[in-house]
Amino acid sequence: MEVRSVLRSLCLALSFGCTLCAFPGNHPALGTAGQFWHITDLHLDPTYHLTDDPTKVCFSSMGRPAKHAGPYGGYLCDSPYRLIQSAFKFMKDAKLQPSFVIWTGDSPPHVPVAELSTKIVIDILRNMTQTIQEYFKDLQVFPALGNHDYWPQDQLPVNRSDVYNAAADMWKQWLTQDARWTLRKGGFYTQIFNCNVTQQTLRIISLNTNLYYSPNKETEGIPDPAGQFVWLENTLKKAQQNKEKVYLIAHVPPGYLPDSMGTTAIREKDNERLVQIFRKYSEVIVGQFTGHTHRDSIMVLLDNQGNPINSLFVAPAVTPQRLSLNGVTNNPGLRLYKYDTDDYTLLDIWQYYLNLTEANEEKIPEWKLEYIMTVAYGIKDIQPQCLYNLANTFIGPYSQKFQMYYNHYIVSYNSSVECVGLCKVKQICAIKYLDHASYMNCILRE
Ligand SMILES: *[C@@H]1O[C@H](CO)[C@@H](O)[C@H](O)[C@H]1NC(C)=O
Ligand SMILES: *[C@@H]1O[C@H](CO)[C@@H](O)[C@H](O)[C@H]1NC(C)=O
Ligand SMILES: *[C@@H]1O[C@H](CO)[C@@H](O)[C@H](O)[C@H]1NC(C)=O
Ligand SMILES: *[C@@H]1O[C@H](CO)[C@@H](O)[C@H](O)[C@H]1NC(C)=O
Ligand SMILES: *[C@@H]1O[C@H](CO)[C@@H](O)[C@H](O)[C@H]1NC(C)=O
Ligand SMILES: [Zn+2]
Ligand SMILES: [Zn+2]
Repeated sequence: MEVRSVLRSLCLALSFGCTLCAFPGNHPALGTAGQFWHITDLHLDPTYHLTDDPTKVCFSSMGRPAKHAGPYGGYLCDSPYRLIQSAFKFMKDAKLQPSFVIWTGDSPPHVPVAELSTKIVIDILRNMTQTIQEYFKDLQVFPALGNHDYWPQDQLPVNRSDVYNAAADMWKQWLTQDARWTLRKGGFYTQIFNCNVTQQTLRIISLNTNLYYSPNKETEGIPDPAGQFVWLENTLKKAQQNKEKVYLIAHVPPGYLPDSMGTTAIREKDNERLVQIFRKYSEVIVGQFTGHTHRDSIMVLLDNQGNPINSLFVAPAVTPQRLSLNGVTNNPGLRLYKYDTDDYTLLDIWQYYLNLTEANEEKIPEWKLEYIMTVAYGIKDIQPQCLYNLANTFIGPYSQKFQMYYNHYIVSYNSSVECVGLCKVKQICAIKYLDHASYMNCILRE
């Protein structure tokens, strides 16, 4: 046995299989890694233009003066087209031969409802679809609808609508007839990813979690909007019977928002039901990917005995727009997942970002690698056990790993911002506890 592999076995044995000792070239599955991109929350603002009056740069600043706005955007504005183009150009130039792209929604800008219309929303969706197709002509894309991909925003309905129809039409190149049929009916679908490299079948499920989003009045009081819960359970049951693996994509994430105390992104009762379904089918679901919060975060689903059984990833937005009152936002981000081509197990995340301040100063949009998850945190992979162990190292007053995690949370926007005290408690409880009872326990305990 060569020295390196002896070292590796020793290292893995000592660390319960999660800590990666730092020597190069020892990634267990690098030879068989496939990859796919994840982009989310593009939020194009077609009104963005540089002008002397900072309040007039973009409608999405809603009257706030967009100081320091530049050719690639400003922190009070949604994305100029040029920023979105720079993201796709970067992905294309990387020449990585990804298997597919997941695109988890929110294309229109944050502006008052009266500034948009169903037509404008559909036009923006079509613009983004065509732009992606311009850069990635033959690449398979799996989209999910976001709460802003509708007019009026958040009000995605339980049956047919112009937006669902338009999406089903414009995504014809990517989706099968069956997928487009449920998309028309309720904004969700499932589709097999065809790949003849492995015997293992991968099923994508694109959920319309906007139906459970708290501000959605169309679905208020409906126990199972659009029958999606029943459909999801049936789809997962069949996947289990057929020994498929599932990647679940959606816009609004389940679980608790890491920035607020005791608030779920979707309605609490719908969250409880989703979490139950995820627990029941955790062996089938090998990855969950969402957006919506605009920040970079992880969650680990625990079973009823407290064992980690699922990894969930919330990818940061392309838009840098600052909505929160605490003065913090995110740099534009996009990411690459590495997976094992034998069984679609997730191996790693390569997170890329654009330093918007720098891009505007230099007038060059230089997208860079922000971090590689296993390397940054010293973990072997991004499976539930490793993420769970990692989250446990965040506890304690001086966790450098947590400080790093928070800096990644805001996509390296400002490394001087500290998250301590209650800020940190909320982050940690949101990572490990997705249901009400265990989350509240965590808040009280910490
Ligand atoms: C998308 O919109 C941008 C900005 O509004 C425009 O410049 C561009 O030509 C449009 N692209 C497509 C493919 O419609
Ligand atoms: C849409 O849903 C509403 C409420 O469930 C129902 O009354 C209506 O008939 C449905 N329309 C169609 C076209 O299915
Ligand atoms: C996979 O399928 C493509 C197109 O159907 C074919 O060209 C290729 O040779 C196949 N590869 C393998 C490894 O079977
Ligand atoms: C982003 O660029 C600005 C201006 O060049 C610089 O001050 C800042 O340190 C950079 N941030 C990161 C995370 O590199
Ligand atoms: C970064 O954060 C520090 C500490 O909160 C703050 O003083 C500083 O103004 C921030 N810088 C920017 C560019 O927001
Ligand atoms: Zn968004
Ligand atoms: Zn959203």
